[in-house]
Amino acid sequence: MTTPRPRTRRGLAAVVGGVAAATLAVALAVPASAAGSTLQAAAAESGRYFGTAIAASRLNDATYTTIANREFNMITAENEMKMDAMQPSRGQFNWSSGDRIVNWARQNGKQVRGHALAWHSQQPGWMQNMSGSALRTAMLDHVTQVASYYRGKIHSWDVVNEAFADGSSGARRDSNLQRTGNDWIEAAFRAARAADPNAKLCYNDYNTDNWQHAKTQAVYRMVQDFKARGVPIDCVGFQAHFNSGNPVPSNYDVTLRNFAALGVDVQITELDIEGSGSSQAQQYQGVVQACLSVPRCTGITVWGVRDTDSWRASGTPLLFDGSGNKKAAYTSVLNQLNQGGTPVPNPTTPGPNPTTPAPNPTTPAPNPTTPAPNPGASCTATYSEGQKWNDRFNGTVTIRANTDINSWTSTVTVRYPQRVIATWNGSPTWDSSGNVMTMRPSGGGALAAGQTVSFGFTVQHGGNWTWPSISCAAS
Ligand code: G3I
Repeated sequence: MTTPRPRTRRGLAAVVGGVAAATLAVALAVPASAAGSTLQAAAAESGRYFGTAIAASRLNDATYTTIANREFNMITAENEMKMDAMQPSRGQFNWSSGDRIVNWARQNGKQVRGHALAWHSQQPGWMQNMSGSALRTAMLDHVTQVASYYRGKIHSWDVVNEAFADGSSGARRDSNLQRTGNDWIEAAFRAARAADPNAKLCYNDYNTDNWQHAKTQAVYRMVQDFKARGVPIDCVGFQAHFNSGNPVPSNYDVTLRNFAALGVDVQITELDIEGSGSSQAQQYQGVVQACLSVPRCTGITVWGVRDTDSWRASGTPLLFDGSGNKKAAYTSVLNQLNQGGTPVPNPTTPGPNPTTPAPNPTTPAPNPTTPAPNPGASCTATYSEGQKWNDRFNGTVTIRANTDINSWTSTVTVRYPQRVIATWNGSPTWDSSGNVMTMRPSGGGALAAGQTVSFGFTVQHGGNWTWPSISCAAS
């Protein structure tokens, strides 16, 4: 698998980070000659894949297979390669359902993501009741047997799935596997590497999308530690199951970029977003743009073909309706893939902190209209949370000059239904969506290297507490 080539298009450079900012991108024209007409073709333009989960039981449905074959080039078995399906009785492996999916994929020229070798859930009954060293041995044997059986046929394995707890603890999830010892995850990765040396080995989880969340930070620290100690990990999977209670965070691109900066690929592995119409389409678009803005985000997989195929069918979370028609979300994904993203360099100061929220690392936003009189001028914007009320919250952005600068502008992107209702210490302007505020100094903006200046604002949040995305540009 090659790293996707970064791609910029003229006119898109002003769109930086943040899901809400993605709305700006759709308006830009895509030359017909460059446009891919299917998801896989459009994703391939930047060297990425576009995948789906497949259920073996639906492979006889011609509408389903026609769409799957046309649109996707990476296939994940939705359930058929999980531990309970692969080894229903101890030592008795049942390859038939997994093989149906792997064979269908390969016969149609597609690659396969393997899901999942070790997981606290979907364990066969015999394993659920095991513990200690017997369970550890059984788990490692399972990893070895399954990864060996499919050796050479799997693009990426979800070696370990969902091993961290939800909430603010940042702890490992309690499970029979965890109780075998904290090193069970790295042991699984080592067994997988030995069994299938050429597959990419991923850690896969959900609720790891928001950079500020404790679970995200905990997984980040594990991956950082694995990389530091030479544990064989190649990629991190972000499941990306979104709904109104768990919306796409505006700092999604920050999360993906920070993980990638650890030296792993990032993949969006189980994407679905409950909703409909333009709101759903906009959120899908934001996810795609976030991936495209990170060179090591190598592909996106949606968790099913049609809404009716979804594990959350009532939430209509996918790209095709129950009749197989393309939804608005499909069109927005295709357009965004064709439009490309805005590659942003890796952050220089990602350092998450387990006790305090980490600042969003930002990079200077290029300004295509104003010629830069001070080449090399650079600044960093840091967000800090202020007072909170039931209906609104305050935020402060601190601009730090990295070099001597003549002036600066800072972009603050809030996420619908949020609205900025007040500002101080700056002169704001707004884009047509009302979601993107560009703040300029009220007076002179000159700062010496190392100097800082701050401005503030109040966000009426409408129930969405997501922090704004911020960036700054210096001249
Ligand atoms: O196939 C049987 C059917 O014969 C039986 O009549 C029926 C009765 O309940 O169950 C059917 O199996 C169900 C299977 O989906 C196929 O539809 C299982 O009960 C059900 O538990 C299983 O749910 C799957 C779930 O993982 C299990 O954990 C979902 O399809 C699948 O989409 C979901 O996928 C997970 C990922 O693996 C990991 N990340 C989260 C994601 C969503 O939960």
